[in-house]
Amino acid sequence: MPSNFHLSPIRWVGGRLSLLEQRKLPLVEEWVECHDVEEVARAIETMVVRGAPAIGITAAYGIAMAAAAAPTLASVSAARERLARTRPTAVNLFWAVERMARVAEKLVSEGVAGAAFAAALAREAEAIHREDVEGNERMGRLGAAFVPDGARILTHCNAGALATGGYGTALGVIRAARDAGKKVAVFADETRPFLQGARLTAWELARDNIPVTVISDNMSGHLFSKGEIDLVVVGADRIARNGDAANKIGTYTVAVLAAAHSVPFYVAAPLSTIDRAIENGSKIPIEERSEAEVTSFAGVQVAPHGVRARHPAFDVTPARYIAAIVTDAGVAAPPCERTIAELFEK
Ligand code: MRU
Repeated sequence: MPSNFHLSPIRWVGGRLSLLEQRKLPLVEEWVECHDVEEVARAIETMVVRGAPAIGITAAYGIAMAAAAAPTLASVSAARERLARTRPTAVNLFWAVERMARVAEKLVSEGVAGAAFAAALAREAEAIHREDVEGNERMGRLGAAFVPDGARILTHCNAGALATGGYGTALGVIRAARDAGKKVAVFADETRPFLQGARLTAWELARDNIPVTVISDNMSGHLFSKGEIDLVVVGADRIARNGDAANKIGTYTVAVLAAAHSVPFYVAAPLSTIDRAIENGSKIPIEERSEAEVTSFAGVQVAPHGVRARHPAFDVTPARYIAAIVTDAGVAAPPCERTIAELFEK
């Protein structure tokens, strides 16, 4: 039964940008409006909006807003510079702001100015948003082929509609398998410390009537050892040209466990997540977030006051642990270095 599941965390209506406040989900569903580029940048930094493709789309709308406020190349480039300083790992952010900047330069070279310049940039941001959803639906159909009927699937973090323009990458694969008539059940890692799995993945799968069971991050080893997980599918924030994939902290641990139990581990991500300028995962910048997000939980201090903590927000899964990378342009199977290059040549 098709899901008819239409959820986007980003709304752009009449030049006004609103974001679903993901820090308050699942208890409160609230939309916040961003009035200028600074508010857009803060929403990305503080994770009102999060997930690699969703960050890119939001930043593109931020640039469209800057152009509407002051339709000049200087205004676009100041917005681009500010937005690029928000979060370092998700390459979709840089991909989207660079695409917007290239269009702005072309418009200026063609003599397009004023309201027409701003309108063209708004249309470009809308195209980025629309293409992301269409790409996710294609990716879902391709990835569904890897999901057996009756599959018990583990996912980490939230790579769903909430992390994208809509539909989702990893959750898009699961959605498409269900829509193809397969029975699926999902284990969602809670994903400490921000709880994207317990709060967001569980919320969106439950809304879509896909059976979901939340586990804390230290439970998957036990479930793998009991033969209760048939496959893993996760998203990515940046994939190097050899297939090494950065995703939410804890993904690497899941990949090693999957390999130890001969369970296939798939990555689903659009081509805009692949950074061909980066040769391997060791070169991917890993965001370090605040210690307080680790030493406290839901606003309550859980570690002794003054104790140090580390908070790398992402880790890198080496390509050798990945059974296939499912993209919007086709599937890259090992050896990923070659198959990724082929996808870009298509
Ligand atoms: O810190 P976040 O919540 O932005 O991290 C998100 C992830 O790691 C997702 O898995 C990734 O961006 C893929 S989203 C389709």
